[in-house]
Amino acid sequence: MIIDFRTAKKIAAKHGTPVIAISENRIKHNYNTFKKYMPRVEVHYAVKSNGHRGVLNILRNCGSNFDVASFAEIEYLLSIGVDATRMIYSNPVKMEQDIVRAYNVGVEWFVYDSDAEIKKLARYAPESEVVLRVAVANNHTMYKLSSKFGADPKHAIRLLLKAKKAGLSPTGITFNAGSHTLGAADYIEGIKMCKGLFKEAKKEGITLDTIDIGGGFPPLGDENVNSQVILQEIYEALDEYFPKETGVEIIAEPGRFLVMDAGTIITKVIGKANRGGTMWYYLDDGTSNSLTDIKFSGWKFDFLVSRRGRKKLSVLAGPTCDSFDVISKEEWLPEMEVGDLVLVPIAGAYTNGLASRYNGFEPAKIVYVNGKI
Ligand SMILES: Cc1ncc(COP(=O)(O)O)c(C=O)c1O
Repeated sequence: MIIDFRTAKKIAAKHGTPVIAISENRIKHNYNTFKKYMPRVEVHYAVKSNGHRGVLNILRNCGSNFDVASFAEIEYLLSIGVDATRMIYSNPVKMEQDIVRAYNVGVEWFVYDSDAEIKKLARYAPESEVVLRVAVANNHTMYKLSSKFGADPKHAIRLLLKAKKAGLSPTGITFNAGSHTLGAADYIEGIKMCKGLFKEAKKEGITLDTIDIGGGFPPLGDENVNSQVILQEIYEALDEYFPKETGVEIIAEPGRFLVMDAGTIITKVIGKANRGGTMWYYLDDGTSNSLTDIKFSGWKFDFLVSRRGRKKLSVLAGPTCDSFDVISKEEWLPEMEVGDLVLVPIAGAYTNGLASRYNGFEPAKIVYVNGKI
């Protein structure tokens, strides 16, 4: 656990709750671990996972590049001194005005996966380098990312040729194996598929020089998955299919691997009730704020309390008047009192970024701590 109750109490006393404590040391450790296992891979941090200024500064200083989803993210990165050439605009469907603005500030890499996107990019970002997103199986992951985006591989060569004909420069292939993946198999299939597409494209007169293996790598803090082994297996496949001598540039877009286990939500019990024999505890953070991700039923958050005693079936709910704002219907917890703190570790990704102001509740503040590694 990166934040203990003693530290959490001090943070809550100083900043109030809800608050997310982010460990700068842990982000650096995660970045260095990623680079240790994947030395040839250029990191493009997925800003969507946590776009807070402090996080972006830490990763910029580590030497990371960035994967962006909108012009707002680009503008924010520019404001902290990140050059546009260090960004890949990886959202396969972009707003026309965002393409214009990205192109004007010097973004050079755009991802696409459809005919309609080629038309927009050719018009608003002429001659740009484009990377084709191709769908791969998402069989070993908590969150599947392959239904909304990704061209069918059988259309890949046609889409590469079409981009070239439209005056764009098709330079690479990308795929996404999911988010919070549980094994390397889908990445390995994706890498093999890219190898095949590189060969086919060459026959058609297109020389590809970039493979982007996307994000999805599970955080080191998830004890149920061996993230290092996953990274190792993916890297072995990269070495096999795209050895150094080929000169192919390899990029990845990790989000949660870099930041998820660096963040701990500190929330407070603001009310309690015994409803039909089950204890209900109301927290000042909930499913419209930092815990929005719970609605997608992927990662199972842990709720840590400082009290000891007999554990009873309990429900944790958020602060809004919305009956759906229930965080967990089945937690076994000792009896708590109003004012107690509840800690939610491994919560630095897809938490503050998804928070709304629903019912007038402000999203959790972010504070930075050095924290244990
Ligand atoms: C295109 C793309 N790249 C990278 C990521 C980051 O995924 P993760 O945070 O699981 O590494 C996502 C997540 O949705 C994505 O859509």
